[in-house]
Amino acid sequence: MSETQLSLFDDSTLNQRELIPTDAKIPIPPGTYTTIDELANHCNQCHRCGLGNTRTHAVVGRGNLQATIMIIGEAPGQTEDETGLPFVGRSGQLLDKILASVNLTTENEVYIGNINKCRPPENRVPTSEEVAACKPYLLEQIRLVDPKIILLTGATAVKGLTGDKRPITKIRGQWLEWEGRLCMPIFHPSYLLRNPSKDKGSPKWLMWQDIQAVRARFDEIRNHG
Ligand code: URA
Repeated sequence: MSETQLSLFDDSTLNQRELIPTDAKIPIPPGTYTTIDELANHCNQCHRCGLGNTRTHAVVGRGNLQATIMIIGEAPGQTEDETGLPFVGRSGQLLDKILASVNLTTENEVYIGNINKCRPPENRVPTSEEVAACKPYLLEQIRLVDPKIILLTGATAVKGLTGDKRPITKIRGQWLEWEGRLCMPIFHPSYLLRNPSKDKGSPKWLMWQDIQAVRARFDEIRNHG
């Protein structure tokens, strides 16, 4: 049998790809995945951190895979863990309303994901080890969707992607650049659920200012590139 024929039966490359997520010490290089489905399959087998032991589903993303705007949350909650979709519980319903207020939808302009793909027990904040173990998936996801604008909901999302540890109240609504992409930290919708006032200067009021600024920048990009 020739060497080419032999290589047809050599599945070592396949095995290696399947084994990548089981050990957090093995890096996942940029360019590992060609599709989000491939990445999601890996996440569902992943044990790079302990959250793999308790998940029902890995939660990768929902929305338009070619969206201009990507929203990054913290980590799945119970409804997300059960359904495998991000932001589908109460926070997600509010997020959809905020987007709809400026005519943005996940059918067209928006794709949604999270820093961590698996639910932390009791919805605790993911540890820095868990964030680090999951980060290569997030970087691959951003590379594949290639959004022009990234919205980071809450301090954990900002720190998880950019390393910036400033409180969300200090940086929300400000554009910042990360790896050549335009990012805006915004409040996490769960914070708005806990602070329902719509008075001028309240968190909800500020969120409505921020989403209008996002819409305006989106229009500029769409019209002028
Ligand atoms: N909160 C998040 O940060 N992400 C979700 O997917 C749901 C709630």
